Amino acid sequence: MATLRFFFLLLSCLHVLTCDQVDHDSLISFYQHISSPPATPLNLSSMDCCQWEGVFCDSNARVTRLLLPGRGLLGTITPFLGNLSSLTHLNLSHNQLSGSLPVGLFHNLNNLQTLDLSFNLLSGLLQPPQSSDSLPISIQTIDLSSNLFNGLINTSFIYRASSLINFNVSNNSFTGTIPSSICRNSNRVKILDFSMNKFSGHVFQGIGQCSRLEVFRAGLNSLTGWIPYDLYSVKTLKVFSLPNNYFSGPINGSIVLLSKLSSLELNDNELTGELPRNIGILSNLKLLLLHTNSLNGSLPPSLTGCINLRTLLLRNNLFGGEISTLNFSKLQQLQVIDFGNNSFVGRIPESLCLCKSLTAVRLAYNRLESEVPPCMTALTSLSHLSLSDNYLSNVIGALKILMHCDNLTVLFMSRCFHNEMMPDDYSLLHLNGFQNLQILTLGGCQLIGQVPSWIAKLRKLKVLNLSLNQISGSIPTWLGSMPDLFVLNLTQNHLSGELPREIGNLPALITDDTDSDLSYLALPFLFNSLQYNRLFNLPRGIKVGSNSLSGKIPVEIGQLKLLHVLELSNNNFNGSIPNQLSHLTNLEKLDMSGNHLSGEIPQSLAKLHFLSSFSIANNDLQGEIPRGGQFDTFPATSFQGNPKLCGYILRRSCPLVTLDDKTPEEDPESSWYNLPFGMGYVFGFFAFSITLLFNTCKRLHHLVVR
Ligand SMILES: *[C@@H]1O[C@H](CO)[C@@H](O)[C@H](O)[C@H]1NC(C)=O
Ligand SMILES: *[C@@H]1O[C@H](CO)[C@@H](O)[C@H](O)[C@H]1NC(C)=O
Ligand SMILES: *[C@@H]1O[C@H](CO)[C@@H](O)[C@H](O)[C@H]1NC(C)=O
Ligand SMILES: *[C@@H]1O[C@H](CO)[C@@H](O)[C@H](O)[C@H]1NC(C)=O
Ligand SMILES: *[C@@H]1O[C@H](CO)[C@@H](O)[C@H](O)[C@H]1NC(C)=O
Ligand SMILES: *[C@@H]1O[C@H](CO)[C@@H](O)[C@H](O)[C@H]1NC(C)=O
Ligand SMILES: *[C@@H]1O[C@H](CO)[C@@H](O)[C@H](O)[C@H]1NC(C)=O
Ligand SMILES: *[C@@H]1O[C@H](CO)[C@@H](O)[C@H](O)[C@H]1NC(C)=O
Ligand SMILES: *[C@@H]1O[C@H](CO)[C@@H](O)[C@H](O)[C@H]1NC(C)=O
Ligand SMILES: *[C@@H]1O[C@H](CO)[C@@H](O)[C@H](O)[C@H]1NC(C)=O
Ligand SMILES: *[C@@H]1O[C@H](CO)[C@@H](O)[C@H](O)[C@H]1NC(C)=O
Ligand SMILES: *[C@@H]1O[C@H](CO)[C@@H](O)[C@H](O)[C@H]1NC(C)=O
Repeated sequence: MATLRFFFLLLSCLHVLTCDQVDHDSLISFYQHISSPPATPLNLSSMDCCQWEGVFCDSNARVTRLLLPGRGLLGTITPFLGNLSSLTHLNLSHNQLSGSLPVGLFHNLNNLQTLDLSFNLLSGLLQPPQSSDSLPISIQTIDLSSNLFNGLINTSFIYRASSLINFNVSNNSFTGTIPSSICRNSNRVKILDFSMNKFSGHVFQGIGQCSRLEVFRAGLNSLTGWIPYDLYSVKTLKVFSLPNNYFSGPINGSIVLLSKLSSLELNDNELTGELPRNIGILSNLKLLLLHTNSLNGSLPPSLTGCINLRTLLLRNNLFGGEISTLNFSKLQQLQVIDFGNNSFVGRIPESLCLCKSLTAVRLAYNRLESEVPPCMTALTSLSHLSLSDNYLSNVIGALKILMHCDNLTVLFMSRCFHNEMMPDDYSLLHLNGFQNLQILTLGGCQLIGQVPSWIAKLRKLKVLNLSLNQISGSIPTWLGSMPDLFVLNLTQNHLSGELPREIGNLPALITDDTDSDLSYLALPFLFNSLQYNRLFNLPRGIKVGSNSLSGKIPVEIGQLKLLHVLELSNNNFNGSIPNQLSHLTNLEKLDMSGNHLSGEIPQSLAKLHFLSSFSIANNDLQGEIPRGGQFDTFPATSFQGNPKLCGYILRRSCPLVTLDDKTPEEDPESSWYNLPFGMGYVFGFFAFSITLLFNTCKRLHHLVVR
């Protein structure tokens, strides 16, 4: 830094400059307020400031461009920059500049056409009170996105900008209403991006004046009211994106006038009413995202006119009617469809099989009936299929068909069949498909039979849910050698025999091999009422509750140190609780209630700092309840139904076992309450916060990444 100063001093003294003196001094001030990474210093070795890195001059030696994007610059923007009155392009994007824009910066920048300050740490108001800052007449592109700016965008700031084409302020903290009148003085505007801010209130008429607007984005704000009518008259619009707001009212039928539209994103709002009947006129539409609204009615058959559709997301609405009113045969470009959580009825349309590019299909939570159509074998690109919560039949037929979809990774079929036979090895004799399957759910179908051994052939399986069926027999030992399995849910079946000790060898619960698959799922899915986009984020667990398992809890379970959830409740397990469970340091939920466990609760379980849910109720345990750690936070109900247990939580004092003649407690009741609550509470809260944070991140992720 010192040498740099000296260097500047030297330069100023020598006066051997070819570039304009005012520009030179402005640049000196600019470089004095920033620093570049020591490893890659800015090249300012020339005597002529027009030769400096990132500086470009015109024939009059006036600086016209200052382009230093992605140079790792730290520091602030000097007010002297406003003296570069010939500047046309300023690009300082992707640096770490902070502070606010200097007051009056634009006053003399009368030639500025392009201002790109995106991806910095700039903050503050664009137009401080009492200042009359406004963008120059010459400005065409302004990108302030991905900074920390806040406050209002006052229309007086953009009033003069009659040449404006591109205005991006996304991903800041701007408040107030969207400056709808932005096009009052400029009819050249093509791109407006207000997304990811804190804009609120109604969007007023005005955008309609932007007669050349192609992209309008204002998603992830708190905008309310109806979508303004005049937006529907901007015939040049290609991208119409207002997701994650509080827009209400219907989608106006005039939307079909936007014949250039390729992307319509209105998901996660409060829109009502039906889809415009002639929506098929929008033949350029590629992306139609209407999920999570309150749209109703049946799908207009004309939708098939949108022959370029690639992504069609309608989940979480009130749509209904025959799903087959939609003839998919023309929608050959479709890649992803999500009709989940509506009230569609009828059969899975065979015309769907003609959409050979489909990678993800979600029809879950509807009222579809009949069988999986055999033509689905044609969907060779299909990787994600969710049919859960429908009224289908013939699970064996479904598996025989779907095993030909070689790329299938995710198959959700819970609660969609009823009371059939569990597809066994005989019926799937030559099973050689499903080699890419990672998730298989067939829960809640009341399937009758045993855990079928064809599942052992699914070498990539990570999640297996066969809960709530009528599976009898024992838990097969080969489950323990499934290489990637980390969620096993066999709750509520009729399984008997011992829990095989081999389960304690599940590799994916012993060593973290998260590299194995970090890919995003094509569609999010619900799992324990949380929404997930990545398989990897799922809580790892073994659930075998509500069966008739017996014998001892195998000590080998203690090897599964990545386990988050262990549910052994409502079985006939006996013997004592293995000490080894205290090695499960990631455990958040441990339920062993409703068994015949005896002996004492190992004190070592108090080491499980992430344990937030614990129950050993209704067993035959004895002795003192451990203290410390999370044990100070569990309610009495976690321990009830064990007459021989004692401890302050149960308000039942323990018999003195020592031979020393200690002074007995005067008032055992009250003294129990003096025990430290602090630690456990802190740990519990910590674990809770982490979980909350994780879940919040996941949701945010879902909002941002589609
Ligand atoms: C710095 O820029 C000058 C011309 O402006 C050039 O001659 C010199 O090679 C550059 N130095 C480095 C290290 O790039
Ligand atoms: C350059 O800008 C600064 C700060 O805005 C101002 O104080 C100064 O008078 C200007 N210098 C010239 C020569 O215009
Ligand atoms: C600024 O520079 C970055 C990196 O070169 C470039 O991607 C971006 O398009 C430039 N901004 C403008 C408005 O030209
Ligand atoms: C907008 O700016 C003008 C002039 O700078 C000022 O008079 C007005 O109060 C500002 N409006 C708001 C809402 O801040
Ligand atoms: C606005 O900038 C963000 C980056 O901050 C970018 O992701 C987005 O695509 C830009 N908007 C438009 C419409 O180009
Ligand atoms: C939002 O801005 C922050 C800070 O510049 C950046 O790290 C992040 O990637 C941006 N998000 C998007 C979606 O552009
Ligand atoms: C659609 O917008 C027009 C104005 O463009 C309005 O007259 C009409 O009532 C709107 N229709 C619906 C169904 O809201
Ligand atoms: C759709 O919802 C609107 C109210 O938002 C209601 O008036 C209309 O009858 C509903 N249509 C159908 C087919 O349910
Ligand atoms: C179905 O959609 C409604 C409305 O968006 C939502 O409240 C509910 O949680 C969704 N249910 C499922 C299972 O996704
Ligand atoms: C769907 O459309 C194709 C061609 O447009 C036609 O051959 C077929 O019969 C239609 N299918 C149904 C179920 O209407
Ligand atoms: C199957 O998936 C792989 C890997 O994602 C991909 O390269 C391949 O093209 C897919 N096959 C088909 C038929 O889509
Ligand atoms: C296991 O299945 C039961 C019943 O279907 C369900 O309530 C539970 O959420 C599932 N748990 C896991 C971890 O899959």
